[in-house]
Amino acid sequence: MKIIETVAEMREFIAAKRQAGKTIGLVPTMGALHEGHLTLMRTAKAKCDVVVASIFVNPTQFGPNEDLDSYPRDLAGDAVKAESAGVEAIFHPQPSEMYSAGYATYINVEGITDKLCGKSRPGHFRGVATVVSKLFNIVQPDTAFFGQKDAQQVAVIERMVRDLNMAIQIEVVTIVREADGLARSSRNTYLSKEEREAALVLSRSLRLASEAAAKGERKAAALKSLVETEIKGESLAKIEYVEIYSYPDLAEIEEVKETALLAVAVRFGTTRLIDNIIFNN
Ligand code: PAF
Repeated sequence: MKIIETVAEMREFIAAKRQAGKTIGLVPTMGALHEGHLTLMRTAKAKCDVVVASIFVNPTQFGPNEDLDSYPRDLAGDAVKAESAGVEAIFHPQPSEMYSAGYATYINVEGITDKLCGKSRPGHFRGVATVVSKLFNIVQPDTAFFGQKDAQQVAVIERMVRDLNMAIQIEVVTIVREADGLARSSRNTYLSKEEREAALVLSRSLRLASEAAAKGERKAAALKSLVETEIKGESLAKIEYVEIYSYPDLAEIEEVKETALLAVAVRFGTTRLIDNIIFNN
């Protein structure tokens, strides 16, 4: 497996694969790979001839008081995991390779980025859309793979691809959870033992809503309230949001009639975790 650090070398690698008639799958990541990422990579390998994973802790998607500096980084460990999941090349540029001096171009997906995580993390999705479009331009994949855990990110990227007529297929892979229900996240490593235990309230509360919906509850307020009450019962949990929107357009809804997203963001100490379920009616 190759580790490629420059745009020029990445383009050469892709050109050779294209010449050989291969299809390309891209799995964009920020590293600290876990089973969720590896599932994306294995799915990509099953669908594409060549899988490229990017590992780039993208500075433009972090706010001034966020965890850019402390975000876990382990290229050597990640390389072993990625190779075992079928990745042929890792694209691992330095920030200066992606954002050279005088960098001035950003992608702004309007509307759907104002709510949920976009509300408390202004500029986050501008950074995500910008780096993902740059990765698409550099790697030129047939298909790119993203996790449903970042459901709003998926909605933003799908909208960007559609609005900008990018010839790339987006594949969404369901949330990968630990055996006890906690959604896999690189940020889980920040949790103390007590916070890790408390964080189980996320999947538990979403399960309650899912069960209520299965029994016929359609009112968004009632489903939200079930989740909020359960999370508030956990003393280490501080709710940032519990919201239900239509999906993927993230419009306000009173009743869950068509596809809808129930999403939560909750802090445990200094660690902010997100989780969600999608109701498919
Ligand atoms: O989901 C992530 O890890 C990041 O937001 C992404 C898509 C790799 C862009 O930096």
